[in-house]
Amino acid sequence: MKLRVLIVLVSCVLSVITGLVLARGGSATEKSEDDTVVIGLSLDTLKEARWQTDRDLFVKRAGELGAKVLVQSANSDDARQVSDVEKLITNQVDVLVVVPHDGTAMAKAVRMAHDAGVPVIAYDRIIRDSDLDLYVSFDNVRVGRMQAQYLVDHLPTPGKGRIIRIYGSKTDNNAKLFKQGQDEVLEPYIKRGDIEVIFEDWAEDWKQENAKKIVNAAITKYQDNFDAILASNDGTAGGAIQALLEEGYAGKKLVTGQDAELVACQRIVQGTQSMTIYKPLKTLATKGAELAVKLAKGQPVVATQTVNNGKIDVPAALNDVITVTRENIDKTVIADGFHSREDVYRGTAAK
Ligand code: GAL
Repeated sequence: MKLRVLIVLVSCVLSVITGLVLARGGSATEKSEDDTVVIGLSLDTLKEARWQTDRDLFVKRAGELGAKVLVQSANSDDARQVSDVEKLITNQVDVLVVVPHDGTAMAKAVRMAHDAGVPVIAYDRIIRDSDLDLYVSFDNVRVGRMQAQYLVDHLPTPGKGRIIRIYGSKTDNNAKLFKQGQDEVLEPYIKRGDIEVIFEDWAEDWKQENAKKIVNAAITKYQDNFDAILASNDGTAGGAIQALLEEGYAGKKLVTGQDAELVACQRIVQGTQSMTIYKPLKTLATKGAELAVKLAKGQPVVATQTVNNGKIDVPAALNDVITVTRENIDKTVIADGFHSREDVYRGTAAK
């Protein structure tokens, strides 16, 4: 008698333990093939063209993989982005993909997600000081190096000149990585006194109008006594060029950029912007969606690089970027189908 009771008791205890283990493992381990993966995509903003493209390409690839995507955009508001993440967790997403407005403020969101057993991927911009699961982006320091190298090589007197620098948003870790790459290239020229930074500032929230104000202030102080504007992305380049246009300096000053936005590509073929950095968003969005589905299903993820976020070395997948000028725009952005030739050359006598 006693032995039989004992056996029943032991098997009860065992099944309870098993049940508990699975639950803590979160949804990832419970996902079988036919359960639809639900991805929560939390964006900083949809104000810039690139984020709309990222969203569309990401949702498309996720759909091809049988996954559903719930999209939230925080309009560059940190409290709103944290509550967006809360909402997505409440909606039982299996994995979170986040483009943080503020890389530090969103550490809280990573903790909230982990408490709910949901893994987190930082998309394009890293989330700092947290146990982030994965980071997918481009080599952002290299972006800055390529912008500054182009400027150094194309100043009226190569390697010499007076420049204005427009950095991105201070809340965006990428803005610091772009600056780091630019600094690496410029430093020896600045040390020798060959290149002088006459004016520099950060454009809050990467806003075009904030970049314009920076260049307006520089022109008030120095009129046209400068050679180039090292703008960190196409949005800030657009603001800078508006300020130049007002003074009749557009097309006469070298201006850098990033993102290969359509308006920037048009400015490049028209001659008011000198270059941009093309970041193949299809590669990033496709990889992001594929890694998100894998994480949601608890499948192994291969990330060959790491990026330190102030707390851990986050496994990372960083993609390469391309310098785009009037000379190679057809072979890069257009050949890739990122923009059509018709759109880029609209209003310009095609070559
Ligand atoms: C950065 C991003 C850039 C640029 C900028 C403004 O984080 O890497 O591509 O778009 O944000 O949104």
